[in-house]
Amino acid sequence: MFHIIGTGMYVPERIVTNDELATMVDTNDEWIRQRVGIAERRISTGEWTSEMAYKAALQALENANCKPEDLDYILTASVSAECVSPSTACMVQKLLGATCPALEVNAACSAFLFLLETAAGLFARGKAKKILVVGAERLSGILDWSDRSTCIIFGDGAGAAVLSNDKDGYLDSVVTVHGGDDVIKIPHFTGCSPFFTKENDSPYIHMQGQETFKYAVNAICSDINTLLERNSLALDDIRYIVPHQANKRIIDFAAKRLKTSEDKFYLNIEHYGNTSSASIPIALDELNRAGKLQSGDYIILTAFGGGLANAACLIRW
Ligand code: COA
Repeated sequence: MFHIIGTGMYVPERIVTNDELATMVDTNDEWIRQRVGIAERRISTGEWTSEMAYKAALQALENANCKPEDLDYILTASVSAECVSPSTACMVQKLLGATCPALEVNAACSAFLFLLETAAGLFARGKAKKILVVGAERLSGILDWSDRSTCIIFGDGAGAAVLSNDKDGYLDSVVTVHGGDDVIKIPHFTGCSPFFTKENDSPYIHMQGQETFKYAVNAICSDINTLLERNSLALDDIRYIVPHQANKRIIDFAAKRLKTSEDKFYLNIEHYGNTSSASIPIALDELNRAGKLQSGDYIILTAFGGGLANAACLIRW
């Protein structure tokens, strides 16, 4: 099917610490570190989502030794793009000077894994040789900065990967959706139609924290166990689990339930917070550039979030 031949990431320069947030809402560094595991996050001060996506894409192309004209598709994911249309994918295509088709997938924090699944389908048609996938978010633009239960959690950034059909490293995947808006919701601008009578919630991230927490732990454990069982593997065979970075305590709970060490999970939430669709490709890029992944290593990517949607995949590096 495909394997990953290059990774890239970009985060804005501006660092916002927990102490700085404590000057804006009633919170403190100790609470955020203990309950969520975040010390700081990057916040965009002047870059749109598509510009961050482009910078991560450039890194991934360079890492893959690949040119924009080599790409057969560009797939992006975002819940915080500057425009509904053109999509972030179309803007990345323009900024790169590529000419291939480009489209966007919306599956919130699980979206990077839905991009891989979509790419697998395009490769299966036999027409694509190289596909660029990018998760990019300016979540700071859709946060209620007076709500301490959400504004402390999220950050901005982008992560990208180049996929190639010359080897099969995408071994198995699980994708699940429990549709509904009662746990996590990002309402859209309702518009100003004089004919429309319904009201919507404010266009920011709304989240039932504890419900999300429980759902996340269950989803991670169940998806990982499914992949291990279906592929006759044990956790000891897996070099790294790369989870969506939402809350360090979610990972602590999952590791305990899976009876494995927390070290099996790659975590960088301390420095970036939750960057939604960008969190897994950012983590992958850090692992890749640090030389922590060897050819032949098994890794599992696992994600959960709005939709509700959760997904995981087994990759051979
Ligand atoms: N700073 C200080 N205190 C805070 C706070 C903050 N930023 N946010 C909430 N609190 C307070 C609450 O008001 C509450 O106080 P009380 O006991 O006096 O009523 C107390 O801390 C505990 O609140 P609770 O909501 O039970 O905290 P929690 O341990 O569930 O943590 C989250 C809240 C949001 C961090 C946690 O539920 C979480 O991470 N959930 C998953 C979110 C997630 O993964 N989202 C992304 C999905 S992709």
